[in-house]
Amino acid sequence: MIEESNVKLVTSIPGPKSIEILEERKKYVADGVSVSTDIAIAEAKGALIKDVDGNVFLDFAAGIGVQNVGHCDPEIVEEIKKQTELFIHPSYNVVTYESYGALAKKLTEITVGDYEKKVMFANSGAEAVENAIKIARTYTKKTGVLSATGSFHGRTNMTMSITSKYKPYKNGFGPFAPETYKFDFPYSYRAPLGVSEEEYADECINRLKTMLKTTLSPDMIACLIIEPLQGEGGFVVPSAKYMRELQKVCNENNIVFIVDEIQAGFARTGKMFAHEHYGIEPDIITMSKSIAAGVPLSAVVAKKEIMDSACVGGIGGTYSGSPLGCVAALKVIEKIEKENLCEKSLKLGGYIMERLNEMKEKYTVIGDVRGLGAMVGLEFVKDRSTKEPAADLVKSIIKKCYENGVIFLNAGILGNVIRFLPPLVMTDEQVKYGMDVLEESIKECI
Ligand SMILES: Cc1ncc(COP(=O)(O)O)c(C=O)c1O
Repeated sequence: MIEESNVKLVTSIPGPKSIEILEERKKYVADGVSVSTDIAIAEAKGALIKDVDGNVFLDFAAGIGVQNVGHCDPEIVEEIKKQTELFIHPSYNVVTYESYGALAKKLTEITVGDYEKKVMFANSGAEAVENAIKIARTYTKKTGVLSATGSFHGRTNMTMSITSKYKPYKNGFGPFAPETYKFDFPYSYRAPLGVSEEEYADECINRLKTMLKTTLSPDMIACLIIEPLQGEGGFVVPSAKYMRELQKVCNENNIVFIVDEIQAGFARTGKMFAHEHYGIEPDIITMSKSIAAGVPLSAVVAKKEIMDSACVGGIGGTYSGSPLGCVAALKVIEKIEKENLCEKSLKLGGYIMERLNEMKEKYTVIGDVRGLGAMVGLEFVKDRSTKEPAADLVKSIIKKCYENGVIFLNAGILGNVIRFLPPLVMTDEQVKYGMDVLEESIKECI
């Protein structure tokens, strides 16, 4: 049990036990599996991680956006424990268990759209995206896939093909899936000089419309996929108008509109799903990460007629919709609703934004502060007028924070963004501590 309520460092970082465990990692585990810290975890609770040497860290990574409800929430742990004593894996393709259907029903209820929906489960975010694309293709009898510049959708063949950042995600891993095309996402902070945010977003939509009339045709495009707030791409927020225009383009051209809520969903942005900020109604939504507080689970929620176009046996898989994931997810959603985690996300994000905007006034290396709720990005530049990205500075600030007990991750197509994904249960004292450490680290690194 973690007794501490905040950061406590008792050895040098990493401590001796962590070093020993990391030695094994280096020797036996693939170098291609990356790691942001060099500590080994002993336990986690809420927004804290304790390592094997007894050091306690404050976690702004939350298992890469998985622990919105906080690490090891006792009620969720209890649900998982109870389930393990009953059955762990009979496979939903062999026998039916109630929690799968109950969770499917709940997801149709908590997503926008007053029409019949159906749900399927998978294990990872990438798998949900793969399935969403398969379903859109069989429904439309078309094959092309449109994805946004700057997007990230996973590491499988299709999902890396529609992902933007070449290195590391595509590096040496080709050939890529055919018939995937890019449309422009309005990265407002990096809009062409003198062009307003709105003009830039309009221009991106116009380019998409032109592309559909020239190099492509709506007759060949099955679906368009977009993150409601770009995650790995640098926590970039599009405008509501842009998102609504995208939906219009899709509706007018029989293109299935897929919104990838894998990183932004489950109260992260102050709404259950981030696309609720824009007044849009996706045809398909992909979900994962915080859905089940760390039990591997992902979901595809689609309009009924779209979902049911997939033939029997064509979607799913051995582990899809694990009972442990389903019971955990039902509890996660109950907690988000009962404990007003959407409100907590807004309050936590509001405080983080306020502190970051104050820092922006003081430190010229901060180019942009942006986000929705508690999904916040801080972009660093070498020079505010040229906006030259400061990726090395981000690396050193993150390292300094970590050495002082606060874990942050970077993001961004240019690697120059610090992302904030705190568990939404992070206390006022903890978030203040984290922001203080961040500010001190910025001062020391510039
Ligand atoms: C928006 C988005 N889509 C898809 C994925 C892929 O999820 P996974 O790593 O579980 O395959 C991620 C992971 O970061 C993501 O952020």
